[in-house]
Amino acid sequence: MKLKLKIKIIWVCLSVLVVRPVYAQLPVYLDEDKPVEERVKDALSRMTLEEKVALCHAQSKFSSAGVPRLGIPELWMSDGPHGVRAELNWNNWHYAEWTNDSITAFPALTCLAATWNPEMAAKYGKALGEEARYREKDVILGPGVNIYRTPLNGRNFEYMGEDPYLAGTLCVPYIQEVQKNGVAVSVKHYALNNQELWRDYIDVYLSERVLHEIYLPAFKMAVQQGGAWTVMGAYNKFRGQHACHNETLLRKILKEDWKFDGVVVSDWGGVHDTYEAALNGMDIEMGSYTNGLTSESAFTYNDYYLAHPYLKMLKEGKIAEENINDKASRILRLIFRTAMNRRKPYGAIANEEHYQSAREIGNEGIVLLKNAPVAKKSAPLLPIDASKYKRILVVGDNAVRPLNQGGGSSELKVKDMVSPLDGLRAVYGDKIRYTQGYVAGKPMYGNVEEIPQTVTDSLRAEAVAMAKESDLVILVGGLNKNHQQDSEAGDRISYGLPFGQDELIEELQTVNRNLILVLLSGNAVEMPWINKVPAIVQGWYLGSMGGHSLADVLSGAVNPSGKLPFSFPARLADCGAHAFDELCYPGDGEKEEYKEDIFVGYRWHDTKKIPALFPFGHGLSYTTFAYGKPSADKKIMKADEQISFSVSVKNTGMCEGQEVVQLYISDKKSSLPRPVKELKGFKKIKLAPGEEKTVTLTIDKGALSYFDDKRHEWVAEPGKFEALIGSSSTDIKAVVPFDFSMCNKNEDSILSEKRPK
Ligand code: BGC
Repeated sequence: MKLKLKIKIIWVCLSVLVVRPVYAQLPVYLDEDKPVEERVKDALSRMTLEEKVALCHAQSKFSSAGVPRLGIPELWMSDGPHGVRAELNWNNWHYAEWTNDSITAFPALTCLAATWNPEMAAKYGKALGEEARYREKDVILGPGVNIYRTPLNGRNFEYMGEDPYLAGTLCVPYIQEVQKNGVAVSVKHYALNNQELWRDYIDVYLSERVLHEIYLPAFKMAVQQGGAWTVMGAYNKFRGQHACHNETLLRKILKEDWKFDGVVVSDWGGVHDTYEAALNGMDIEMGSYTNGLTSESAFTYNDYYLAHPYLKMLKEGKIAEENINDKASRILRLIFRTAMNRRKPYGAIANEEHYQSAREIGNEGIVLLKNAPVAKKSAPLLPIDASKYKRILVVGDNAVRPLNQGGGSSELKVKDMVSPLDGLRAVYGDKIRYTQGYVAGKPMYGNVEEIPQTVTDSLRAEAVAMAKESDLVILVGGLNKNHQQDSEAGDRISYGLPFGQDELIEELQTVNRNLILVLLSGNAVEMPWINKVPAIVQGWYLGSMGGHSLADVLSGAVNPSGKLPFSFPARLADCGAHAFDELCYPGDGEKEEYKEDIFVGYRWHDTKKIPALFPFGHGLSYTTFAYGKPSADKKIMKADEQISFSVSVKNTGMCEGQEVVQLYISDKKSSLPRPVKELKGFKKIKLAPGEEKTVTLTIDKGALSYFDDKRHEWVAEPGKFEALIGSSSTDIKAVVPFDFSMCNKNEDSILSEKRPK
């Protein structure tokens, strides 16, 4: 017999006699071929009460325990949501100073929302998931989908704008792609964490209707369509109870109504009561300090609310054992999906593909707000025609500032970072000169640095002098990631631009009319000089490749296609949250009432007829698009049917471009007040010059429905509706009327149906 054959026979015998029996003895929970639920049940049956409780709270700043005796690994978490945060020490908030944890910073979520492109959200999730996997994280703490209620919220940059449909649609592919890497997302901050001021205790009151129509849908889509494996409870209170142990939010809506099978993780220090947290659906308590609260103490992780105090209540029979069994099952399920998933890919970090994704997302998210000619008959300033300018002056702290630093938990340690100045130099070389123009203090979180006026004055004077001698000025300003800017744990204190930028803009434009303003921020700002500045670009926080993305758009290598995910009110008082008293925003220090109700963002501007400075959905292009006459596939939509609207769009300009076709639905008559219109569909299309495409957007009755407080359900009333198709929430190109009938497909519709009183 040949040697090869002999070896084969020996191998087969060995595997039959030795390997297979050993394998057969594998406990069910270790067998990845077994259904997850069987494995959960098996693991649970082998665990002591103490082991189950140990799963339910932190064991370090960013990890929770597994079951060492059974070989079940711990869970490692990391912020989130724009990249994987640098390693922190086991037991305090200092960075661990590792040298292998530098990553790609992706554009902030406001920028992702501004792409209006689910494909970009998928790219984002894939790359971020791969980086998290490579860094051996099991849970990445993001995405954030809290609704943009006021431009003063310090954390808007981590969220996806003012519209629940837009935020929900974009978070779904992000979540799905991250989780393909065996890394869970943690959708945050559930719910109503819409400001940072007094975030630990502000008690939010709002109608049942606005809760369901505006503040919850993105979370619901994240859970039901995205399949999110974890959700993070928020710091604030809702109707007198902390969100992290809120009976309505967690137990009733998330777990019972939405059938969430994952884990609720607390925000760090967000749990304040053992019994409530245990009963109302909190699963893993994480903490800011060792006692779990947001102030330091000598306590240990065992003193967390869901540690020994919880164990004691279980032992005393004050809390039933099924309560811990439910939590432990959820956590085991999460561990099997992530830490103990041997089939997950390996991941990758800061590679070319990730940089490319970051750059593309930036390219697609940058919004061209304004692009007017400087003089009659002259061309707009953008894209920059380099042949016209010998000396280009770049001004502004944000042109060089490391905007990955500060902001709070979303701070990132980057491997590479291309600043706007670097990006512009790479295109325009020696033509570029730079001056800071204003001073904004060093990047820091949690403090405001005093800036002497003399420094501000001299920097401004220098910039103005240099601008006089330049052919073109690009001011890269906006907000930054310091306290009271775009940063955690505090709100902005004014709507205007900080650090004397208003004065700087005024003075620059008097000496040089060729002024391009690039705003880097996660929030709208007041623009008192709007009529004097010909070109304005909203550039968000763009991450590692931000400088290239900006230069791509300013130079015209890329045609801008971003659209605003939130309105820019002209004045703060034009925003619904600021149209009432202090109780409406920021609250009285204890309580807050959302008096603008369902009229958030463009819903407010439309209904109150207060035009926004730049409306939701707005964004210009270097080309032009012509919309054809739209059509619907039916005149009457029945209750169990869908309706489709089609419209042709033609690129009538000289360069390739992308357009976002937006579909808003308007209910012509309803029993309850409704916004003038609401976004219910959109599609981004790419068109070469002269090219024409037809876009079809389909909705069902869900898109016609409102939440009826009294009946506690979604209601679509029969009657007349309109589909508004446009290029922004105010640039509506065409209106298609249609009827909605309560009959089903095979029944005759009765058009005289009356709306319920
Ligand atoms: C933030 C969370 C973050 C957590 C961990 C909290 O202060 O609100 O968003 O994930 O810290 O860093």
